Amino acid sequence: MTGLATDTVWQNRLERIDSDVEGIHFPDSVDGIDQDEEWCDIQLNGESRRIRFHDYSDIFEIPGLYEELFYDRLKCCSPSYIANLLDSVVREYGESTDEFRVLDVGAGNGMVGDELQRHGVESIVGIDIIREARDAAGRDRPNVYEDYLVTDLTDLPEVEEESLRRAEANCLTTVAALGYGDIPPLAFAKALDLIATPGWLAFNLKESFLREQDTSGFSRLIPIPFNESQLLTA
Ligand SMILES: C[S@@+](CC[C@H](N)C(=O)[O-])C[C@H]1O[C@@H](n2cnc3c(N)ncnc32)[C@H](O)[C@@H]1O
Repeated sequence: MTGLATDTVWQNRLERIDSDVEGIHFPDSVDGIDQDEEWCDIQLNGESRRIRFHDYSDIFEIPGLYEELFYDRLKCCSPSYIANLLDSVVREYGESTDEFRVLDVGAGNGMVGDELQRHGVESIVGIDIIREARDAAGRDRPNVYEDYLVTDLTDLPEVEEESLRRAEANCLTTVAALGYGDIPPLAFAKALDLIATPGWLAFNLKESFLREQDTSGFSRLIPIPFNESQLLTA
């Protein structure tokens, strides 16, 4: 399987990203800090600024910070991993991504779109709930998305729903964006409903959201009969 952070294509891309960030410092210990509360201090224009990892509006406004923080320092490789996984499964089924019209939900500044474009998909429409994500995608990856909506899928205006249905998406991607105060199950279900049948779906989700004890709603939306050992190794 290709697609890990050591992937040369991915490393080359990271090297090409211009970053305004002069330094990133993590707290000595994250014991007792919930994932949603994690933070770091960054150096920017000679000043130090504290940024919570989930404050995407602040993060996207600083060119290069998202990539440097999550992908370079924390070694997250979800966009390339999921895009490569999708491509390999599609090939196993004797199909190709060439005719994929993708809806990328929680698109952020476009890293998933960038990967999908590399796999030669037909078109990509992005959706995010914050304007700063669309602005950053336009700034960092201007030629990736055919359209990019800033909208709330739990309260989708009719005119936007009509335009999304007209796009006849046959693939949904949602990467590093489900749960933890980000995309709720209801919005994910709405996105699924916008995809043609048959269609393709590629997403990642922390395994605890699939456990029986989960209260977020994801375990009811995706009732996979995992046992504990499968969850740890899947
Ligand atoms: C960690 S980023 C992931 C971005 C991109 N998918 C990637 O893998 O690089 C999570 C994104 O989900 C977006 N998001 C959070 N809640 C959302 C919602 N309810 N609807 C749409 N997007 C949402 C955030 O604004 C942010 O851009």
